[in-house]
Amino acid sequence: MATTPKRRRWSAVDVPDLNGKVAVVTGANSGIGFEAAKVLAEHGATVVLACRNPVKAQNALDTIRTATPAADVSLLEMDLNSLASVRKAADTLLADRPVIDLLINNAGVTFLPYGLTADGFETHYGVNYLGHFAFTGLVLPAVTAADAGRIVTIGSNAHRLGKMNFDDPGFTKGGYKPLRAYARSKLANLLFAFELQRRLQTAGASTQSLAAHPGGANTEILESIGPVRQKLKQLIDHIPNPIVHSARQGALPTLRAATDPASRGDEYYGPAGLLKMTGPPVLVKASATSRHPETAQRLWELSEEQTGVTYPL
Ligand SMILES: NC(=O)c1ccc[n+]([C@@H]2O[C@H](COP(=O)([O-])OP(=O)(O)OC[C@H]3O[C@@H](n4cnc5c(N)ncnc54)[C@H](OP(=O)(O)O)[C@@H]3O)[C@@H](O)[C@H]2O)c1
Repeated sequence: MATTPKRRRWSAVDVPDLNGKVAVVTGANSGIGFEAAKVLAEHGATVVLACRNPVKAQNALDTIRTATPAADVSLLEMDLNSLASVRKAADTLLADRPVIDLLINNAGVTFLPYGLTADGFETHYGVNYLGHFAFTGLVLPAVTAADAGRIVTIGSNAHRLGKMNFDDPGFTKGGYKPLRAYARSKLANLLFAFELQRRLQTAGASTQSLAAHPGGANTEILESIGPVRQKLKQLIDHIPNPIVHSARQGALPTLRAATDPASRGDEYYGPAGLLKMTGPPVLVKASATSRHPETAQRLWELSEEQTGVTYPL
């Protein structure tokens, strides 16, 4: 009797041909953003690396070109810590790229001591969330100009620990803890991704908004956990474990959300493993709070006020 073949795990070889597609990846000089950008370029996409540090960005571009000499890669300077920088980057991008097929909102900071962005917002909230809210709104006309464009926003398992506090989003009244601030910013990322999908759908746009998270990925972000990491970093990629996988594996949920022809707006991808920390990319559940439309709408209104960016939907 014939046996049904076991379903293969989705991997980078499943990324379709992307020739003719334009992809923009924020925070593409390291970690999962770099790995995602590299795979997109390998599959023929024109890739824009949107980064704050031109030297690191150039190194990333050189590495991608070494791996794929025919890669069509360019740089866009953007510091998400500053809304002026975000506006300037969006203007430059729109002048250059009237059509964007894929926007990956990936850049992020983690577990920082209390600090403020150039515009006075708590750093995690300002960089991870508000900067991307503003950038996406400003470049949205180019994404909606694409045939079935996609916007993928990166969350984290930590979003489950996040609580929005609309009276004090930036912890000015106290209670600041790096993990709390990071978790709030990641919850905001997911509230945004799902609300954007609702708004795109209502507007009848073909553009889709999805979310993804890498689980535990061996990236620069692990620096924030402590000095032991340096030794661990060298070992992790070679020792299978249920907590941390390589940055390349961590990029797969992003890539699946961004390129799998079967993926749809409103979906959230992450690793399949028991703790959702490692494993192949599959559909995962986001918290009930991140799926709460009223909370998302309130955050949206606040974000438009805080950034001065109104979405053209
Ligand atoms: N690694 C994990 O286990 C994990 C788990 C859950 C979620 N995530 C999420 O995955 C995403 C990528 O993180 P990663 O793990 O790949 O870490 P990473 O290697 O540190 O990459 C973060 C990227 O964001 C950039 N960035 C930071 N602040 C920026 C700013 N103000 N303006 C523009 N770019 C900025 C960094 O640029 P510089 O190099 O200049 O600092 C870097 O390119 C983040 O959203 C993170 O929250 C990661």
